[in-house]
Amino acid sequence: MINYGKHFVDKEDLDAVNFTLKYNFLTQGDQVKKFEKNIKNFFGGKYCLAVNSGTSALHLALKSLSLKKNSLVLTTPITFIATANSVLYNNHKLDLIDIDLKNYCLDLNLLEKYLIQKKNLVKAVIFVDYAGNTLDWDKIFFLKKKYNFFTINDNCHALGAKYKNDIKYAVKYADLVTHSYHPVKLITTGEGGSVLTDNKSFYDKIFSLRSHGIIRNPLLEKKFGRWFYEVNKLGYNYRLSDIASSLGNSQIKKAKKFLKKRGEIAKIYDYNFKGIEGIIIPKKNESVNHAYHLYVLLIDFNYFKISKKNFFQKLLKKGINLQVHYVPIYNHKLYQSRFKFNKKKYPQSEKFFNQAVSLPVFYELKLNQQKYVINEIKKILKINGHKKKI
Ligand SMILES: Cc1ncc(COP(=O)(O)O)c(C=O)c1O
Repeated sequence: MINYGKHFVDKEDLDAVNFTLKYNFLTQGDQVKKFEKNIKNFFGGKYCLAVNSGTSALHLALKSLSLKKNSLVLTTPITFIATANSVLYNNHKLDLIDIDLKNYCLDLNLLEKYLIQKKNLVKAVIFVDYAGNTLDWDKIFFLKKKYNFFTINDNCHALGAKYKNDIKYAVKYADLVTHSYHPVKLITTGEGGSVLTDNKSFYDKIFSLRSHGIIRNPLLEKKFGRWFYEVNKLGYNYRLSDIASSLGNSQIKKAKKFLKKRGEIAKIYDYNFKGIEGIIIPKKNESVNHAYHLYVLLIDFNYFKISKKNFFQKLLKKGINLQVHYVPIYNHKLYQSRFKFNKKKYPQSEKFFNQAVSLPVFYELKLNQQKYVINEIKKILKINGHKKKI
């Protein structure tokens, strides 16, 4: 079966994990600190906090803003459920801004209209650099200054993307940046994530919250002993283990190689699907180097006179398992019942949802497998006369 995504683990990774299992602490040891340092070196930021998932990263990033209960937080409808869930974990109010079909990310013009309308009510916006494309972060920075809200970049898809030729862009623009190291992401720790920030106060809060809310004060430890700690706020156990961190330390050495391969795969898809009526390939802004966490085609199934369901089933029979990223947040019952979202407010997300298909992108995807995927899609859609040399 050819899946849309898959991790890649080699002998170096296995050796790194084995070494930790044999000789290191399994948790709360040096491998975690080393991983945080490696992440900072690669992706930028003064502070990095490794946590046990991208979801925990979002939960704590939003919590570190210390907003009042029921604060208004915005995000895009086209994201993984975890982005929206982080707003509920923090007991805030969620609203959604439709996407821009130019980059499939939250539409910044609609956002500005919303900010004007709601005056000072919007306290934070969680942006998602969808699929590995990046938003116009200069514009976001301008809006943030003008309308005064916090920015979180749910950067889970865009590990390795460049904005204005800078791989360290995310933490330069957003107050907080969150990563996921789930197996389909650029690099993996099995499950895992991190928060990056330049802000010491956010760092201190997350540092404590990820480990039960524990605070260690050197002066008090001196007075009472090294065993002494205080807890003032409710925290969690969101720590990343040293086992997972050692896998991350080995994986990050391969991040550039992984990125390059993703770019090559995307180029081949672009070449083969560009200019076909009824199909739209991912668009890119000149200032962006896309990380291609996902390669999303928009297919006009009405034009091709086939249902999306039928298309997926036919491919599945051929051993190709595609995905849809994502069911819009407003469609889920949890969010419907809580916020009474009206689908009609999200025409671009609806169009996107009806047409979006994520094709396989992963390091070990072989050229002959990719050719097979392309040819099977073209056969099912009855696309003739587009026999390009791959
Ligand atoms: C955009 C986005 N946000 C958040 C997450 C949550 O990350 P995790 O699965 O590591 O909890 C994911 C992971 O799939 C994601 O794609």
